[in-house]
Amino acid sequence: MNKTFLFISAGLEAVPAILRAKELGLNVIATDADSNAPGFEYVDQKLIADTYNIEETVRVVKHYHTHICPIDGVLCVAADIPKTVSVVANTLGILGITEHSAFLVSDKLAMKQQFQKDQIPIPWFSEIDSFHSLEHQFQKKKFPLILKPVDSRGARGVLRLSKELDLKWAYEESLSHSPTNRVMLEAYLEGPQVSTESLVVDGQVFTPGFSDRNYEYLQRFSPFVIENGGDLPSYLSENIQTSVKQLIQHAAFSLGITNGVVKGDVVIHNSKPYIIELAGRLSGGYFCTHEIPLNTGVDFVGCAIRHALGEKISPSELTPEYQKPVVQRYLFPKPGKVIRVTGVAEVKAMPGIKMCEIRVAVGDTISKVHSHPARSGVILATAETSAQARLLAASAIDNIRIETT
Ligand SMILES: Nc1ncnc2c1ncn2[C@@H]1O[C@H](COP(=O)(O)OP(=O)(O)OP(=O)(O)O)[C@@H](O)[C@H]1O
Ligand SMILES: [Mg+2]
Repeated sequence: MNKTFLFISAGLEAVPAILRAKELGLNVIATDADSNAPGFEYVDQKLIADTYNIEETVRVVKHYHTHICPIDGVLCVAADIPKTVSVVANTLGILGITEHSAFLVSDKLAMKQQFQKDQIPIPWFSEIDSFHSLEHQFQKKKFPLILKPVDSRGARGVLRLSKELDLKWAYEESLSHSPTNRVMLEAYLEGPQVSTESLVVDGQVFTPGFSDRNYEYLQRFSPFVIENGGDLPSYLSENIQTSVKQLIQHAAFSLGITNGVVKGDVVIHNSKPYIIELAGRLSGGYFCTHEIPLNTGVDFVGCAIRHALGEKISPSELTPEYQKPVVQRYLFPKPGKVIRVTGVAEVKAMPGIKMCEIRVAVGDTISKVHSHPARSGVILATAETSAQARLLAASAIDNIRIETT
């Protein structure tokens, strides 16, 4: 009989992974609180359960596993719910990270404390337990600072501090995005930023995902930290790339992850890589499902699914075959009510455009962008050279007109 694979969360960005699992001939099931979740359209069985509610998800999944069909593997894509995935995997006795590792990747403070213990290079950090303590640190520290919720995602409440900023507002804003009401402060490290994605197979870390992050709009969206896509392959030297990959390996082991996916945020400060964070899940933003395969030929999601099923993955399957330029850019229309969207069909027809996803429709209200989920759409461009791919991406963004009043 076919093996059964479970995706926790059936959101839009999980759709390509669900389709990949179907192509692999699996019986595919998914959980989500929203019965209209986009991924549900493609699964063999949908299970309704809030992905953040561990108890509810475990109950629903266990019932399916015991009474309908045993589940052989589990993953989540573009949803930051490692604790739910870990508890499900451990309850069913299938491959997953430990609950302790899942806790460490969900709590930026605990993660940094663990990294500090293991001497993994990270920015200076401190827990902030009151506004007074924030004021005190802000006056004392001589380097740029960034304030963030301990346990949020999507850059919500992540703020670069400056003298011009109302510190009290920043504290309240950041705090409002922490489910446990905790914020922390870090040194803001200047330098190129990269996103990585790796599969850890029996203690061996393979990192075919390596993208230069684009922060050209840092000033425009200040104090929020909003990324405008990424460029692959990286322009960083081979030496730096190797040291980033070694750092990811140390960081994964520090968190106790010897099997599974790790998604890294890294900054290269004064030519040395520092870990900003490591997530224990498949990436969002179509990095794992589109950018890595387009850039390298590596079927990253296919490997992650098969690995989660306990299949052996050979190093060659995770080794890039080539380095084809891929450029990702986001849409940032003027805030207001959307009255017209044009140019999408033309952009989709441009040779080299591999994705053009518009996330707003006529009648929607676009607010100021304060986090990554608030971006209005995304395009992916490929070309023979990186310069051509960047030009194509820019032209695609220019041609999509989202008019607002
Ligand atoms: N100490 C730092 N130095 C430099 N840049 C930083 C630092 N902390 C955060 N950033 C930038 O801000 C981004 C968002 O911060 P962080 O990853 O901590 O929040 P998040 O909510 O997990 O965001 P996301 O889900 O997009 O990763 C980082 O990916 C990085 O680009
Ligand atoms: Mg992050």
